[in-house]
Amino acid sequence: MDKITLLQPDDWHVHLRDGAALQRTVPDMAKQFSRAICMPNLVPPIKTVEEAHAYRERIMAHVPAGLSFDPRMVLYFTDHTSPEEVKKIKKSDYVNAIKMYPAGATTNSEHGVTDISNIYGVIEQMEEHQVPLLLHGEVTHHHVDIFDREKRFLDEVLSPLLQQFPKLKLVLEHITTSEAAHFILEQDRNVAATITPQHLLFNRNDMLVGGIKPHFYCLPVLKRQTHQQTLLEVATSGNPKFFLGTDSAPHSKNAKENACGCAGCYSAPIAIELYAQAFDQVGKIERLEGFASHFGADFYGLPRNSTTISLVREEQVVPEQLDYMDGEKIIPLYAGKTIQWRKV
Ligand code: NCD
Ligand code: ZN
Repeated sequence: MDKITLLQPDDWHVHLRDGAALQRTVPDMAKQFSRAICMPNLVPPIKTVEEAHAYRERIMAHVPAGLSFDPRMVLYFTDHTSPEEVKKIKKSDYVNAIKMYPAGATTNSEHGVTDISNIYGVIEQMEEHQVPLLLHGEVTHHHVDIFDREKRFLDEVLSPLLQQFPKLKLVLEHITTSEAAHFILEQDRNVAATITPQHLLFNRNDMLVGGIKPHFYCLPVLKRQTHQQTLLEVATSGNPKFFLGTDSAPHSKNAKENACGCAGCYSAPIAIELYAQAFDQVGKIERLEGFASHFGADFYGLPRNSTTISLVREEQVVPEQLDYMDGEKIIPLYAGKTIQWRKV
């Protein structure tokens, strides 16, 4: 197949940042995706429905003329989130979920949850009102090896959580391991996962062999090739529990190429083509539409899009760098390399 047409995709996990960054991130997103779940890990984080509505307005101000883009908003869970906020979410037209970052797990997670049992009262409300809980699924104890942090989260946090709240709608974000994929497969339909393009296309060798490549560094960190293989299998299996979430997370070139480089890969401008490349590499391009355009909307209880996009099998070279805020540059995922698909 040299051309495919699919319902316009949605991105169920993206970081757009705020202020001047939106000039870069919002047009890049809106050119490909119809809707996006906008992560709340700003400085300071988005903790209330009111703050989420105001942030959405700032995003909307950067949508290019002629494009339609519907940012779906998320609150940032803290130890002090009120159960009342869940009821406000139910009444909001724009807020869809609450994101839980274990404190210290990733970029801007200092205000995250210190112990999940602190927030069980709010989670009870979320289960009752069927408001999805989005999870950064890694434990943060210093003694736990960074490559084991996702698996340990399944055992120590997620299993007990689901035992207590079996009907909770939950998305394990950006899964990176076979263990996480199998865990999701074993659960009921109320539990799903997003998968990023970097975890489908790369493994830790791409990041570490022949010199450290900071632009591949994201959290959860890339794992070994066998995990990449399992992620490709489940993403292309047609199982609706797995859907698209880029986790596109911009950091300037300087912040990445640094003695203490930031975590996050910027894939927004070419994300759907990267997924097409990954699906095509395993001979499953026909499964892309379900993953990119159906399953996430179905999970969130939102209508599927009605517009379409087309992708053609045609080489394109990803730009070496892009302009970012304050005169800085940003290096996109796959910079300078050739991908085999192009959105037309
Ligand atoms: C994200 C960011 O930069 O905000 N970074 C990342 O490596 N994925 C945060 C996150 O989703 O973990
Ligand atoms: Zn993220």
